[in-house]
Amino acid sequence: MNVVKNVLDRYSEGAKTRQESLCCPVDYDSRSLANLPQEIIEKDYGCGDPSRYVREGDVVLDLGSGGGKICYMAASLVGEQGRVIGVDMNDDMLALARKYQKQMAETIGSDRVEFHKAYIQDLALDVDAMENYLQEKPITNAQDLADLDAWKSQHKTQQPLIADHSVDLVISNCVLNLVDEKQKAQLVAEIFRVLKPGGRVAISDIVSDEIVPQHLQQDPSLWSGCISGAFQEYEFLQAFVDAGFNYVSYDKWDAQPWQVVEGIEFRSVTLLASKPLGTECIDRGHAVIYKGPFAKIYDDEGHVFIRGKRMAVCERTFKQLIEGDLADQFIGVQPHELLPAKNWCAPHGTERTVQETKGGLISTKTEASCC
Ligand SMILES: C[S@@+](CC[C@H](N)C(=O)[O-])C[C@H]1O[C@@H](n2cnc3c(N)ncnc32)[C@H](O)[C@@H]1O
Repeated sequence: MNVVKNVLDRYSEGAKTRQESLCCPVDYDSRSLANLPQEIIEKDYGCGDPSRYVREGDVVLDLGSGGGKICYMAASLVGEQGRVIGVDMNDDMLALARKYQKQMAETIGSDRVEFHKAYIQDLALDVDAMENYLQEKPITNAQDLADLDAWKSQHKTQQPLIADHSVDLVISNCVLNLVDEKQKAQLVAEIFRVLKPGGRVAISDIVSDEIVPQHLQQDPSLWSGCISGAFQEYEFLQAFVDAGFNYVSYDKWDAQPWQVVEGIEFRSVTLLASKPLGTECIDRGHAVIYKGPFAKIYDDEGHVFIRGKRMAVCERTFKQLIEGDLADQFIGVQPHELLPAKNWCAPHGTERTVQETKGGLISTKTEASCC
């Protein structure tokens, strides 16, 4: 089976007429849908709502933007200072999304959305630019092919469509499962490449409870229908951990499977992850206390947090835990006096004594108590 051709054909049809079999019920915020053209709402082939993770000012990249619904929802959330980039490989889907670009710019207040033709597993390659090159230099022999490869590699280095470290939030809605198995690791590596340090991921997709057997993976209709290319539920998270992300988690998990095929459950989930800040680990005397309810927890970098103990962390980890999405699980204890910045980090599992941290500023998201 040629995965790209199979998926192109299926979604070209989907851009022209609504395909009931591709529609997974999603509970969108009705206020976000209010401004959208009816055609965009009807030709919705998503399985979740990653737009809820958009923040004001974000540069957002939507992988497999289809009719543009999530891009337009995100555009109203990013505000004047933000920007939304949708990428899709399908001309008909891109045409559908662009059809409403002017109207949506007027509704939202400015033109903050752009759509590009690209493969989400190769975000540096501008496929429109490649097609222009091919118009001028069609391939008729092996030398032409070698020239194209050279052009691609130069273009990707010098004018990448999506540059390294340029995006605050990568979102996607029911697309990763459509990418060829052999290219899935490259796809996750591309997400990592384009994100700024500290950038976030919010991906809604379909996962399976068991590994999907070969004969189902080779069924073109099940593949293009967002079923048999699904990641297995544990492997989806692990692919992001392996690529270097931290704080990888499921935020949404549909109790009810969307489809069951040969006893395998396929359901919609939303995965969240962050790209590490990438700054050096330097011990300045900070500590965090894990509030519980578990006896101890580990993160993917190897830190161990024992419930109720003042655990040593570097300044970078302190900021990520106390200022990030996990802030309600930890109490932050700043050093009474900052230690000199030496190129040293306390080994994971080191406890800070009370004497080391006494008098340090405490940060906690818990409501202050009465006394
Ligand atoms: C199931 S639809 C989802 C569309 C949209 N995200 C939504 O919520 O309605 C999948 C979309 O991903 C696109 N797509 C699939 N594989 C792709 C790839 N490898 N590169 C770029 N786009 C891809 C398809 O063309 C299609 O528009």
